[in-house]
Amino acid sequence: MSRVYQPSDHVVENSRVPSFEKYKEMHEKSLEDPETFWSDIVKEFYWQKRPQTGNFLRYNFDISKGSIFVKCMEGAETNISFNLLDRNVRNGNGDKIAYYWEGNHPDDYSRVTYKKLMDRVCQFANALRESGVGKGDRIAVYMPMILETVVCMLACARIGAIHSVVFAGFSSDSLAERIAACKAKMVVTADGAWRGEKLLILKNICSEAIEKSKRQHNHLVSMCIVVSHLDRVTPCGELPDDYNDMFHWNPIRDVWWHDLVEGQSTICSPEWMDAEDPLFMLYTSGSTGKPKGVLHTTAGYLLYATATFRYVFDYRGNDVFWCTADVGWITGHTYVVYGPLANGATSVIFEGTPFYPENDRYWSLVDKYNVNQFYTAPTAIRSLTKCGDHYVKMNDLKSLRVLGSVGEPINPEAWLWYYHLIGSGRCSIVDTFWQTETGGHVLTSLPGATPMKPGAAGFPFFGVEPRILNEDGEVIEGPGEGYLVFSRPWPGIMRTLYGDHERFETVYFSKFPGYYCTGDGAKRDEDGFLWVTGRIDDMLNVSGHLMSTAEVEGVLAKDPRVTEAAVVSKPHPIKGESLYCFIILNEGAKFDDELIDCLKKLVRKSIGAFATPDVIQYAPGLPKTRSGKIMRRILRKVALGDEAVGDLSTLADPTVIPELFKYRP
Ligand code: PRX
Repeated sequence: MSRVYQPSDHVVENSRVPSFEKYKEMHEKSLEDPETFWSDIVKEFYWQKRPQTGNFLRYNFDISKGSIFVKCMEGAETNISFNLLDRNVRNGNGDKIAYYWEGNHPDDYSRVTYKKLMDRVCQFANALRESGVGKGDRIAVYMPMILETVVCMLACARIGAIHSVVFAGFSSDSLAERIAACKAKMVVTADGAWRGEKLLILKNICSEAIEKSKRQHNHLVSMCIVVSHLDRVTPCGELPDDYNDMFHWNPIRDVWWHDLVEGQSTICSPEWMDAEDPLFMLYTSGSTGKPKGVLHTTAGYLLYATATFRYVFDYRGNDVFWCTADVGWITGHTYVVYGPLANGATSVIFEGTPFYPENDRYWSLVDKYNVNQFYTAPTAIRSLTKCGDHYVKMNDLKSLRVLGSVGEPINPEAWLWYYHLIGSGRCSIVDTFWQTETGGHVLTSLPGATPMKPGAAGFPFFGVEPRILNEDGEVIEGPGEGYLVFSRPWPGIMRTLYGDHERFETVYFSKFPGYYCTGDGAKRDEDGFLWVTGRIDDMLNVSGHLMSTAEVEGVLAKDPRVTEAAVVSKPHPIKGESLYCFIILNEGAKFDDELIDCLKKLVRKSIGAFATPDVIQYAPGLPKTRSGKIMRRILRKVALGDEAVGDLSTLADPTVIPELFKYRP
């Protein structure tokens, strides 16, 4: 039984929810009467058309009763950029710092106030409007962690355009697929960025993607806006000799950001959006291999981002918050951009890596900016534990109060290191479970309120009603383990998959009618703590990046020497999970180092570096059921070298098993 850690006095003092009783009372209220519960935050926002009473949350979660829908305050009108910027400026926070920007090189840093951010957003929004962008248009964003990224997202929100941010670690193939899938009118990027000592020429990846989107997907992008970033930062490594003429510039399509905004007014009237109008879409991996365009709408998302940020990080007054996630993922959307700004918070936005120029970069920034809330991923924590404690001890981390973890289960060793060394045993750890689809945290601890157990996500956030189901869809009460589902929506849940509502219903609502199915397993212990046990579908989580086995298998099978590929996850001490691939070859093809190297490069090029397989193994055959389904359970055992493979009665040809063990590298 794991030890329970109670929040320290340092955290409880002045906290928004100072006891477990208070949390339970608020949670109950949020389920009994959602409209009243959320009304205080609703009132904080500016509404062009006020929400009607009795219309807070309408939904159907039961596929057997008709189409699935969720509507929050439909009919009301607002604008998110106006609420994040103008409202804060009008409330007297114009001179407050919205972001401290810290570049990859420690000599590069800047800051922006709410007023200045508003001006920049308005100018860029005017430039977009003038270029023909309007309500409902999709804009693809492929950017490093710089202030223009935030400006661009909020400018889209200001004029009702839908941003689709693609993580700038994705390859040009992946970017092309995402640009074409949402039929993006424009792409916004930067010339490049340094990641540690590595130079990424983002503009060229973008140009390739735009070309591929035309050739392979028949979709034409009309404009590519490019931030000139490299010239204003300190070079962190060697520049290629042909650096100055290496950009693939198309004068008809490409335009510099600074040329476009020059002379634009800092006044831009917002587009008033229905509460249920789309705000953004964000692609996430799907188990078929085709990415899913998760769509979030305006008011419910705003409300939920605001509340989760406020309560889960216990953000107060002049705290400095830092979320290390890239804006290319949902964590960056909700907790680098929307949640902090909606609360008038001051945040750090960091372009670099934890290891450059030294392994103490994170801790030195906590020290430099006096960070109060620090939010990162278990993979980062695990790799930093390996660097040695002296990197932590070189810095003063006394400002910290709340430490967050996100993206994958955190193992107890990493949790304890985080708690004792980073938090000196006086900070609360919030292990936040959520998904691109959920918009914000759904299971978590609350700093002053809930006790903590290393590795447990904790308890449902306000408005969230989790259930654990067995294989037959029956609810498991009390302690037990099964499928993690939710029995009702909360304001921030996704509304659909862009352009494919049917897939939305099939993926999330068909397995257990009446419930949103997360695809994760969970267990409830004797004390009522919820533990997320990991994916129970064909998805993998490598360093917090979710991907599907089918996606990687599809890429491997593109090599003419490969007949079939099967990919499973293998536990990894730093990355959480890693990719282990089994390859069946065509006749005459040779399995050697050259092939392994070639397949790894193919995955890098087709998806991105984060998807590179750790192991590629020769397989004379695959364990399949008589109906031809691959038994991944057995492959996972082979990957682990664990010969206790269990029940083989449904296997078509058991002789393949010893062969697979024989060929383990
Ligand atoms: O498997 C869960 C895991 O990450 C998945 C969601 O991935 P994505 O949509 O990319 O969003 C990541 C950031 C919110 C989940 O289905 N996951 C996320 N947070 C946790 C987690 N697993 C365990 N514990 C967590 N705290």
